[in-house]
Amino acid sequence: MENQITIPRIGDTAPDFKAMTTTGPMQFSDHIKGSWTILFSHPADFTPVCTTEMTGFALDQKYFDEKNTKLVGLSIDSIHSHIAWVNNVKKNTGVLFEFPIIADIDMNVSKLYGMLQPGESETAAVRAVFFIDPKGKIRLIMYYPLNVGRNMDEIKRSLVALQTADQYKVSLPLNWREGDKVIVSPPKTVAEMLEREASDYEMVDFYLAKRDL
Ligand code: BEZ
Repeated sequence: MENQITIPRIGDTAPDFKAMTTTGPMQFSDHIKGSWTILFSHPADFTPVCTTEMTGFALDQKYFDEKNTKLVGLSIDSIHSHIAWVNNVKKNTGVLFEFPIIADIDMNVSKLYGMLQPGESETAAVRAVFFIDPKGKIRLIMYYPLNVGRNMDEIKRSLVALQTADQYKVSLPLNWREGDKVIVSPPKTVAEMLEREASDYEMVDFYLAKRDL
């Protein structure tokens, strides 16, 4: 399996691996146990778009801590390159990348997570984002090409949406943001449908009803 490119799917258990990172060796399944995890790849150290993205994650470190969410970065670079880049960004901007960054020099993790997409590059990982829940299941996946940076607001919105959907057993509509009404699951019986008609839900029809959390 090690050399084959695979693309994990939503609902799969996050593939496990052992890797060297900027915070030391990591057994991924141990590292992510019991918390949400955002595993994200970037094409290369010392490149402009990647520097803006990594800085964005680092500036929101406290936000992710408060959401019980670990950040794990990755690129196909050596640990020495990662450390030099972390040092360079710290010196230039004062921002420290505290989260671990995987040195995926053998491309093992990139291939395991479909981050190496040969139509885009044979040697650099695309900008992938995997949201993994505390049970180790992949819940949401984003892939961006090399030349387009991600949207931190959407990454944070997606995380809160997943956590809210789990906690309250609801679905979330287009453009949902924290504080907005949520969708109540459609009724499964006629009795539930009649009950719904008598409720104070905001209703378009019996199958599309919203409520405050
Ligand atoms: C960048 O991060 O700026 C970048 C990296 C690889 C290809 C294109 C842009």
